[in-house]
Amino acid sequence: MKMHSILSTVLVIILAFSVAEANNLDGKTQQMVNGICKKTTDIRFCSSVLVKNLATPAPSNKDLMNVTVREAERFSANTNFFISTLLENAGDERQDLQMCADAYSIVNLAFTNAMSFFNQAHYSKIVKVQNKISKAVGICKTDFNVPGYEINPLIERKRQTMILSAMEQIVCQMVSS
Ligand SMILES: *[C@@H]1O[C@H](CO)[C@@H](O)[C@H](O)[C@H]1NC(C)=O
Repeated sequence: MKMHSILSTVLVIILAFSVAEANNLDGKTQQMVNGICKKTTDIRFCSSVLVKNLATPAPSNKDLMNVTVREAERFSANTNFFISTLLENAGDERQDLQMCADAYSIVNLAFTNAMSFFNQAHYSKIVKVQNKISKAVGICKTDFNVPGYEINPLIERKRQTMILSAMEQIVCQMVSS
Protein backbone atom coordinates (compact mmCIF):
# COMPACT_ATOMS: atom_id res chain seq x y z
CA MET A 1 0.00 0.00 0.00
CA LYS A 2 2.76 2.39 0.98
CA MET A 3 4.88 1.44 -2.04
CA HIS A 4 1.85 1.85 -4.19
CA SER A 5 1.26 5.41 -3.07
CA ILE A 6 4.91 6.32 -3.53
CA LEU A 7 4.75 4.99 -7.07
CA SER A 8 1.58 6.94 -7.78
CA THR A 9 3.16 10.11 -6.45
CA VAL A 10 6.22 9.62 -8.63
CA LEU A 11 3.99 8.99 -11.61
CA VAL A 12 1.99 12.15 -10.98
CA ILE A 13 5.19 14.17 -10.71
CA ILE A 14 6.53 12.73 -13.95
CA LEU A 15 3.24 13.45 -15.69
CA ALA A 16 3.19 17.02 -14.37
CA PHE A 17 6.69 17.60 -15.70
CA SER A 18 5.89 16.22 -19.14
CA VAL A 19 2.80 18.38 -19.38
CA ALA A 20 4.83 21.40 -18.25
CA GLU A 21 7.44 20.63 -20.90
CA ALA A 22 4.83 20.21 -23.59
CA ASN A 23 3.30 23.54 -22.62
CA ASN A 24 6.65 25.26 -22.75
CA LEU A 25 6.40 25.86 -26.46
CA ASP A 26 3.70 28.10 -27.81
CA GLY A 27 1.83 27.05 -30.92
CA LYS A 28 3.93 29.15 -33.25
CA THR A 29 7.20 27.75 -31.92
CA GLN A 30 5.86 24.23 -32.10
CA GLN A 31 4.97 24.92 -35.72
CA MET A 32 8.50 26.18 -36.46
CA VAL A 33 10.03 23.12 -34.84
CA ASN A 34 7.71 20.80 -36.75
CA GLY A 35 8.45 22.62 -39.99
CA ILE A 36 12.16 21.99 -39.55
CA CYS A 37 11.95 18.48 -38.17
CA LYS A 38 9.56 16.99 -40.69
CA LYS A 39 12.25 17.65 -43.32
CA THR A 40 14.62 15.37 -41.42
CA THR A 41 14.55 11.58 -41.20
CA ASP A 42 13.77 11.58 -37.46
CA ILE A 43 11.17 14.08 -36.31
CA ARG A 44 11.38 12.90 -32.70
CA PHE A 45 15.14 13.24 -32.31
CA CYS A 46 15.15 16.58 -34.12
CA SER A 47 12.32 18.01 -31.98
CA SER A 48 13.89 16.86 -28.74
CA VAL A 49 17.21 18.56 -29.62
CA LEU A 50 15.44 21.84 -30.35
CA VAL A 51 12.84 21.77 -27.58
CA LYS A 52 15.30 20.77 -24.85
CA ASN A 53 17.69 23.58 -25.65
CA LEU A 54 15.56 26.54 -26.61
CA ALA A 55 16.13 29.15 -23.93
CA THR A 56 13.34 31.52 -24.97
CA PRO A 57 9.64 30.70 -25.33
CA ALA A 58 9.33 32.55 -28.65
CA PRO A 59 12.57 31.82 -30.52
CA SER A 60 13.56 33.53 -33.75
CA ASN A 61 15.04 31.60 -36.67
CA LYS A 62 18.41 32.76 -35.40
CA ASP A 63 17.76 31.27 -31.97
CA LEU A 64 16.88 27.96 -33.63
CA MET A 65 20.08 28.14 -35.65
CA ASN A 66 22.04 28.94 -32.50
CA VAL A 67 20.70 25.88 -30.70
CA THR A 68 21.31 23.67 -33.74
CA VAL A 69 24.93 24.66 -34.36
CA ARG A 70 25.80 24.47 -30.68
CA GLU A 71 24.15 21.08 -30.17
CA ALA A 72 25.74 19.66 -33.32
CA GLU A 73 29.16 20.81 -32.15
CA ARG A 74 28.58 19.46 -28.66
CA PHE A 75 27.39 16.10 -30.01
CA SER A 76 30.35 15.67 -32.35
CA ALA A 77 32.84 16.66 -29.62
CA ASN A 78 31.16 14.14 -27.35
CA THR A 79 31.39 11.46 -30.06
CA ASN A 80 35.07 12.27 -30.53
CA PHE A 81 35.61 11.74 -26.83
CA PHE A 82 33.49 8.58 -26.84
CA ILE A 83 35.63 7.06 -29.62
CA SER A 84 38.80 7.93 -27.71
CA THR A 85 37.50 6.02 -24.69
CA LEU A 86 36.75 3.01 -26.91
CA LEU A 87 40.26 3.22 -28.35
CA GLU A 88 41.85 3.04 -24.92
CA ASN A 89 40.90 -0.62 -24.52
CA ALA A 90 40.65 -1.57 -28.17
CA GLY A 91 41.73 -4.96 -29.49
CA ASP A 92 41.11 -6.23 -33.01
CA GLU A 93 38.83 -3.33 -33.77
CA ARG A 94 41.54 -0.71 -33.17
CA GLN A 95 42.14 0.08 -36.82
CA ASP A 96 38.44 0.51 -37.57
CA LEU A 97 38.01 2.68 -34.49
CA GLN A 98 41.00 4.78 -35.53
CA MET A 99 39.30 5.45 -38.88
CA CYS A 100 36.23 6.65 -36.98
CA ALA A 101 38.40 8.80 -34.71
CA ASP A 102 39.97 10.38 -37.81
CA ALA A 103 36.52 10.85 -39.35
CA TYR A 104 35.15 12.53 -36.26
CA SER A 105 38.14 14.86 -35.96
CA ILE A 106 37.09 16.22 -39.35
CA VAL A 107 33.39 16.20 -38.45
CA ASN A 108 33.99 18.02 -35.18
CA LEU A 109 36.20 20.62 -36.83
CA ALA A 110 33.52 21.19 -39.46
CA PHE A 111 30.81 21.65 -36.82
CA THR A 112 33.12 23.98 -34.88
CA ASN A 113 33.64 26.01 -38.05
CA ALA A 114 29.88 26.08 -38.60
CA MET A 115 29.49 27.56 -35.14
CA SER A 116 32.00 30.34 -35.81
CA PHE A 117 30.39 31.03 -39.19
CA PHE A 118 27.10 31.42 -37.34
CA ASN A 119 28.65 33.86 -34.87
CA GLN A 120 30.01 35.88 -37.82
CA ALA A 121 26.64 35.66 -39.62
CA HIS A 122 28.28 33.92 -42.62
CA TYR A 123 25.29 31.66 -43.13
CA SER A 124 26.03 30.52 -46.66
CA LYS A 125 29.31 29.05 -45.43
CA ILE A 126 27.41 26.86 -42.97
CA VAL A 127 25.57 25.17 -45.82
CA LYS A 128 28.87 24.43 -47.57
CA VAL A 129 30.27 22.75 -44.46
CA GLN A 130 27.58 20.03 -44.61
CA ASN A 131 29.20 18.38 -47.65
CA LYS A 132 32.43 18.02 -45.75
CA ILE A 133 30.57 16.52 -42.83
CA SER A 134 28.75 13.84 -44.79
CA LYS A 135 31.96 12.88 -46.62
CA ALA A 136 33.86 12.62 -43.33
CA VAL A 137 31.11 10.60 -41.65
CA GLY A 138 31.48 8.12 -44.51
CA ILE A 139 35.11 7.49 -43.53
CA CYS A 140 33.84 5.86 -40.33
CA LYS A 141 32.79 2.33 -41.31
CA THR A 142 30.65 0.59 -38.75
CA ASP A 143 30.77 -3.05 -39.90
CA PHE A 144 32.88 -4.16 -36.94
CA ASN A 145 32.19 -5.28 -33.39
CA VAL A 146 32.72 -3.09 -30.39
CA PRO A 147 33.30 -5.26 -27.29
CA GLY A 148 30.60 -4.71 -24.70
CA TYR A 149 28.03 -3.60 -27.28
CA GLU A 150 25.55 -5.81 -29.03
CA ILE A 151 25.27 -3.26 -31.83
CA ASN A 152 28.13 -1.00 -32.85
CA PRO A 153 27.25 2.25 -31.03
CA LEU A 154 28.80 4.31 -33.81
CA ILE A 155 25.91 3.36 -36.11
CA GLU A 156 23.54 5.44 -33.99
CA ARG A 157 26.13 8.21 -33.56
CA LYS A 158 26.52 8.48 -37.33
CA ARG A 159 22.78 8.53 -37.81
CA GLN A 160 22.32 11.35 -35.33
CA THR A 161 25.28 13.26 -36.76
CA MET A 162 23.64 13.25 -40.19
CA ILE A 163 20.35 14.47 -38.72
CA LEU A 164 22.11 17.32 -36.92
CA SER A 165 23.87 18.19 -40.16
CA ALA A 166 20.54 18.19 -42.02
CA MET A 167 19.06 20.41 -39.31
CA GLU A 168 21.88 22.93 -39.74
CA GLN A 169 21.22 23.05 -43.44
CA ILE A 170 17.45 23.44 -43.05
CA VAL A 171 17.62 26.12 -40.36
CA CYS A 172 20.41 27.93 -42.15
CA GLN A 173 18.27 28.23 -45.26
CA MET A 174 15.48 29.68 -43.08
CA VAL A 175 17.82 32.24 -41.54
CA SER A 176 19.33 33.39 -44.81
CA SER A 177 16.08 33.60 -46.77
C1 LIG B 1 23.59 31.72 -28.72
O1 LIG B 1 23.15 31.19 -27.49
C2 LIG B 1 24.01 31.45 -26.40
C3 LIG B 1 23.48 30.71 -25.19
O2 LIG B 1 22.11 30.88 -25.02
C4 LIG B 1 24.11 32.95 -26.19
O3 LIG B 1 24.98 33.23 -25.12
C5 LIG B 1 24.62 33.62 -27.46
O4 LIG B 1 24.61 35.01 -27.31
C6 LIG B 1 23.75 33.23 -28.65
N1 LIG B 1 24.39 33.73 -29.87
C7 LIG B 1 23.72 34.42 -30.81
C8 LIG B 1 24.53 34.92 -31.94
O5 LIG B 1 22.50 34.60 -30.77
